[in-house]
Amino acid sequence: MTDLTPVALPRRPRVLALANQKGGVGKTTTAINLGTALAATGEKVLIVDLDPQGNASTGLGIDRKSRKSSTYDVLCGDVGLGQAMQETAVPGLFLAPSTLDLLGVELEIASSKDRAHRLKHAIDELMYDQRCSDLTYVLIDCPPSLSLITINAMTASDAVLVPLQCEFFALEGLSQLLKTVEQVRAGLNPRLAIQGVVLTMYDARNNLSGQVMADVREFLGDKVYETVIPRNVRISEAPSYGKPALLYDLRCSGSQAYLRLASEVIKRERALRAAA
Ligand SMILES: Nc1ncnc2c1ncn2[C@@H]1O[C@H](COP(=O)(O)OP(=O)(O)O)[C@@H](O)[C@H]1O
Ligand SMILES: [Mg+2]
Repeated sequence: MTDLTPVALPRRPRVLALANQKGGVGKTTTAINLGTALAATGEKVLIVDLDPQGNASTGLGIDRKSRKSSTYDVLCGDVGLGQAMQETAVPGLFLAPSTLDLLGVELEIASSKDRAHRLKHAIDELMYDQRCSDLTYVLIDCPPSLSLITINAMTASDAVLVPLQCEFFALEGLSQLLKTVEQVRAGLNPRLAIQGVVLTMYDARNNLSGQVMADVREFLGDKVYETVIPRNVRISEAPSYGKPALLYDLRCSGSQAYLRLASEVIKRERALRAAA
């Protein structure tokens, strides 16, 4: 007789791309600290470093010598994401590191038909890798561009999370980013949503910060998270110790803000999943 015992199907982790083509807005800081905060609440998280600068890798204490397999190898199809994945000092938080090789990856893959789907395929395969099948979140740290690397991230993702710095030109370039999201949705990944916009480096003593926050909320409404990440020197010090801010100083205002952001992200994920 046929065995009708149900087989537990592997569950795909929620995949979020941290994207903004502007540099220095807090993508990497958010990837590291949101990832740490999610792991602290019991999620199993993989950060995929897709920036050739490798700041997420350095900030998590993975030095260049120990980056044996990298996201470059993954996008080239030479290794699986599970093989590139390394443990970090945070229980439950893993990293697929990047190296400067990634600068050349677009040339390597530009002429292949599945060039925009390389990362998506790598994440799909993760579910069948025993070490990774119980991952619940994948956070992709994008480079500061809307290049093929970022397109790979968006094609692989359920949603985009946009860090926006509280400065005068915060909204400049956002329409271009949203247009790219639309294009990816139209052609490559119809389920791509906007998870939300997180305001970073907010300075309560600076009137401009408050004005920018008001403008962004008026323009984007409830896409903007309630949590605002304050400008906090402990956050900028932590990477030089190869530690997330949450390990470096759990009590500082920045770490506390990232913990609040993590619970908002989880809440939104549940809502997005229920609506899907
Ligand atoms: N909330 C914050 N308070 C203080 N410094 C911050 C904060 N967020 C980011 N930084 C610093 O700003 C710089 C740019 O941040 P980063 O996360 O690397 O941006 P991106 O990845 O978008 O280029 C880094 O030096 C980082 O340490
Ligand atoms: Mg970065």
